[in-house]
Amino acid sequence: MIMKKEEQYDLLLRQVVEIVDGEVELVPKMANVAALLHETFHFWWTGFYTVNDGTLLLGPFQGPVACMRIGYGKGVCGTAWKEGRTIVVPDVEQFPGHIACSNASRSEIVVPIYSRGQVAAVLDIDSEHLNTFDDIDRYWLERIAAAVMGETREIYLAAGCFWGAQHFFKQVPGVKATETGFVNGRTEHPTYEEVYTDTTGFAEAVRIVYEPWRMPLSRLLELYFLAIDPTSLNKQGEDEGSRYRTGIYFTNDADRAVASEVLDRESHKHDLPLCVELEPMRNFYPADAYHQDYLDKNPQGYCHLPLELFEVAKKG
Ligand code: SME
Repeated sequence: MIMKKEEQYDLLLRQVVEIVDGEVELVPKMANVAALLHETFHFWWTGFYTVNDGTLLLGPFQGPVACMRIGYGKGVCGTAWKEGRTIVVPDVEQFPGHIACSNASRSEIVVPIYSRGQVAAVLDIDSEHLNTFDDIDRYWLERIAAAVMGETREIYLAAGCFWGAQHFFKQVPGVKATETGFVNGRTEHPTYEEVYTDTTGFAEAVRIVYEPWRMPLSRLLELYFLAIDPTSLNKQGEDEGSRYRTGIYFTNDADRAVASEVLDRESHKHDLPLCVELEPMRNFYPADAYHQDYLDKNPQGYCHLPLELFEVAKKG
């Protein structure tokens, strides 16, 4: 039976999660993930470079001998490092500055791997055919790369009253932690009562810590859109005021790009313009304990979201 690329990746990601589970050292994880990818897809070259003393240093790989060091901004790998985003190269001869470790390589994909918000390594795959890699490869390889590092990511989402919003995001598989608070305002350490006056500029929001290999940001944001009316300005459910505006607040440019794509797709589903902010997260202050996990503590408490939505969130 011939499996589709998505099915192969889906299976592979499960194997990767098993391989990396419980192992903290990077080298053995990278070695086995390189082997697994290489065996599955028979690429020309599959391997890792890690950021070391300001240069990319060759790590575990499968395939022919490769260059051992790549500078910041150099070649495809150094560019993916510098720009912090995945680079798909359909034809390496068309990529200015491409570093040819082997003449047989015709197309390439390089995926940055983050640790504590910084690029710590890249996954580099070469093919001896043109146009081998597309958005499907990018989507799955980003998840696989994140699983190798075991890194969690953060995003801040404003979705109206944060009691229901937090309860919604808590259900989503791959979400490790949530916290209610106030995002992108003009004062410091605002209280709930101050934010309630609608004069501080803050929006009620949820800080979400998630595992991107289990729950990619694009899917997390699709779920977010199920929990909001994106065309409603400063009003969600019965809650009204700029503190109840909707917004996506990111902490790196790669997340901004993903969020822009999702916003663009969502905008086609509506006749009215979207009112969802897309801004860098400038400040976030956690709300008091009273407002944390509110609906767990008060199951009959006020919730602007329909209960069925929590079942949707659980499915991911
Ligand atoms: N082509 C890469 C160099 C690494 S090899 O492909 C293994 C680049 O341009 O960064």
